[in-house]
Amino acid sequence: MNLTGKRILLGITGSIAAYKTIDLIRRLIDLGAEITVAMTRSAQTFITPLTFETVSRKKVFTDLTQEPLSHITLLENSDLFLIAPATANIIGKMASGIADDLMSTLLMASPVPVLMVPAMNNWMYENPILQRNKEILEEKGIEVLEPESGDLACGHKGIGRFPETEKIIKKVIEILKKKEDLSGETVLITAGPTREPIDPVRFVSNRSSGKMGYSLARVAWRRGAEVTLISGPTTLKPPVGVNYIPVERTEEMMKKVISSFENATIGIMAAAVADWSPEISPHKIKKNGGTLTLRMKENPDILKKMGDRKGKRILVGFAAETDNAVENGKKKLIEKNLDMVVVNDLRDEGAGFDVDTNKVTMIDRKGRVSELPLMSKIEVADRIIDKVIELKRSQNLS
Ligand code: PMT
Repeated sequence: MNLTGKRILLGITGSIAAYKTIDLIRRLIDLGAEITVAMTRSAQTFITPLTFETVSRKKVFTDLTQEPLSHITLLENSDLFLIAPATANIIGKMASGIADDLMSTLLMASPVPVLMVPAMNNWMYENPILQRNKEILEEKGIEVLEPESGDLACGHKGIGRFPETEKIIKKVIEILKKKEDLSGETVLITAGPTREPIDPVRFVSNRSSGKMGYSLARVAWRRGAEVTLISGPTTLKPPVGVNYIPVERTEEMMKKVISSFENATIGIMAAAVADWSPEISPHKIKKNGGTLTLRMKENPDILKKMGDRKGKRILVGFAAETDNAVENGKKKLIEKNLDMVVVNDLRDEGAGFDVDTNKVTMIDRKGRVSELPLMSKIEVADRIIDKVIELKRSQNLS
């Protein structure tokens, strides 16, 4: 891949992994990229600006007052802001909206895509506060590349290692290349569970967290699409830039989906729709010392209705399976008139409901099967969108 003409602002923060960016800079320059380095004060305790001036052959920025308006001009002259290594401190500052030095002010001002590459001790990385902050950044459209597991500088073994240069470069290329490849498309995505009331205080639902659907919405928006996200109840914040429609019951989701689908060019149904709804009691059901029997009726199949109205749109469904996953997924592909089905085998560890990762198999109408390894839901979303674009292109050619 040629990165000629691509301008990368590299922010280095105070981690022992700072020295590894020397190799990263060299490799990016070899690919044709222009690198400008900014450093925090603590980064300079690990390695000097002179080193980076020598490697990048450019002036290094270390302070807000070094040059008037550098927190704006540096970004105006960049296609990507890469923060590597990113400390818990810079992640926490950004998540809390603190801009008190050059790095945090650049981050606050950035109109260009941001990629953070955390590197730190495993206890720090696993701290729920760090994890929550990371989620906040991702909700705001910032990409975070997962660190690797292995030997850490502090002598621990665990997650927190700065990834291999190759892996970072791959991600950089992916972001720079993919910036706008969905522009002109209108994507309708569903996420989360639906809830079916039993009485005024109780409901039937499932364990969908919405993470898969929200990741898809975030990725589709970042890649230039207009996105409508129709979501059942979750604890997630709607991703920036998307048209967000919250719903509760299946019937409600169906109405919103059918009307939004009219204007969509792509539909992706990641929601875990409740298959049945009980008869609703108008009063809170009282205990009677015995058993409670619920009479349930089957809910409409929203995806099937979308399949009937599909026309030239690309339609993707999910299948959450516990047995014969691929076979059942293929059946759903045909029955619901889909272009692609994304199968979650719920027996796989780290896959499916209420986790940050997923392991899926994508099957298209030509019977092509792509089995993906376990990866973050954001990465899975990127791979699904890659495949959607491929299907769209081959549809345009035929
Ligand atoms: O939300 P997360 O915690 O991140 O978990 C992600 C997920 C496991 C929910 C997601 O990856 C997933 O698999 N979603 C589909 C779950 C599901 O309901 O699968 P299904 O096999 O029952 O349904 C097949 C397809 O038909 C799905 O696209 C579903 O949205 C759709 N459907 C199902 C029933 C129904 N009445 N109407 C529908 O449209």
